[in-house]
Amino acid sequence: MKILVTGGLGFIGSHTVVELQQKGFEVVVIDNLSNSTLSVLDGIENITSIRPYFEQLDLRDKSAVFSFFETHQNIAGVIHFAASKAVGESVENPLLYYENNVTTLVYVLQALEKYQINNFIFSSSCTVYGQADELPITENAPVKKAESPYGNTKQIGEEIIEDTCKVSTQLKAIALRYFNPIGAHSSAELGELPIGVPQNLVPYITQTGIGLRKELSVFGNDYSTIDGTCVRDYIHVVDLAKAHVIAVERLINNNNSCNFETYNIGTGKGSSVLEVIQSFERVSNTSLNYSFAPRRVGDVIEAYANTQKVTSQLGWKAESTLDEAMLSAWNWENKIKK
Ligand SMILES: NC(=O)c1ccc[n+]([C@@H]2O[C@H](COP(=O)([O-])OP(=O)(O)OC[C@H]3O[C@@H](n4cnc5c(N)ncnc54)[C@H](O)[C@@H]3O)[C@@H](O)[C@H]2O)c1
Repeated sequence: MKILVTGGLGFIGSHTVVELQQKGFEVVVIDNLSNSTLSVLDGIENITSIRPYFEQLDLRDKSAVFSFFETHQNIAGVIHFAASKAVGESVENPLLYYENNVTTLVYVLQALEKYQINNFIFSSSCTVYGQADELPITENAPVKKAESPYGNTKQIGEEIIEDTCKVSTQLKAIALRYFNPIGAHSSAELGELPIGVPQNLVPYITQTGIGLRKELSVFGNDYSTIDGTCVRDYIHVVDLAKAHVIAVERLINNNNSCNFETYNIGTGKGSSVLEVIQSFERVSNTSLNYSFAPRRVGDVIEAYANTQKVTSQLGWKAESTLDEAMLSAWNWENKIKK
């Protein structure tokens, strides 16, 4: 069975391609390489011994999107990762984000309708919840006004898919709301490749640990959390990748309970910034250079998932520990340093 993975050379997409291939799916990848490199194909092949079919294509090019589907008509499902994801950049350049994250989604959905491809998985985010009133966060928590254009593209994306599912007699879709993906493949063949200064905590930690950055700033140490620093639900990217395989199989086998479903993908456990640093220091045997800095405007204080729905309905749960994820990220950092 053939699955199309858009953004399949990116961080989460590449790990998902590996899991799909290991489950016997044939994978077709679209990516415009705006935030990835062709060498990711080697990493995938080194792990699975299969090089997925790859097409360098920009999903903003509507006619290219339609000609792609014209030539690949036997696709059973689409996992749509392709998007821009830097929150700060989205504030600076909102139209880039609305074009790249919303317009492209519309084109892909139009193509699915035209070519009668019925199974669609969407990369959503826990950013749709903002600072939730209750923890852990369930899928029923209200979607709050987005803190950034990036967050808004995820909310709008879910609405577009839901509206389309309401009128389509065929389309089935699942939005996976990721908490904080971290780590790398245990083989160190794949991992996160931030361009420029990392926007996320873990690559910043590993780059500081290896000497690429002088110091990590921990923004805020006086929040009402376990140790005063912000708390997030860090999910190993391989666990996250496996959730996509289960989700797409659910749709292909018509096991879904309604045409549009949403699931939290997290561990269910919150970890503070200091706990992540301590985990890194433990697994790497390195002391991290960090200091406290003032709170950042707009930072959510605490967010972690209630995972009951995904566990009971998809039979998925996170398996890796924070230490395992941090060790894999560290091994990856050491690999790419060479
Ligand atoms: N990493 C996170 O912390 C996180 C959290 C929640 C949700 N998400 C979402 O998950 C998805 C994947 O995230 P990631 O961390 O793997 O990001 P990534 O940047 O590593 O991967 C995205 C891939 O999409 C490609 N791409 C971007 N625009 C494209 C376009 N117009 N046409 C074709 N390809 C395009 C990029 O080159 C890149 O390879 C994104 O939708 C992101 O918003 C990520």
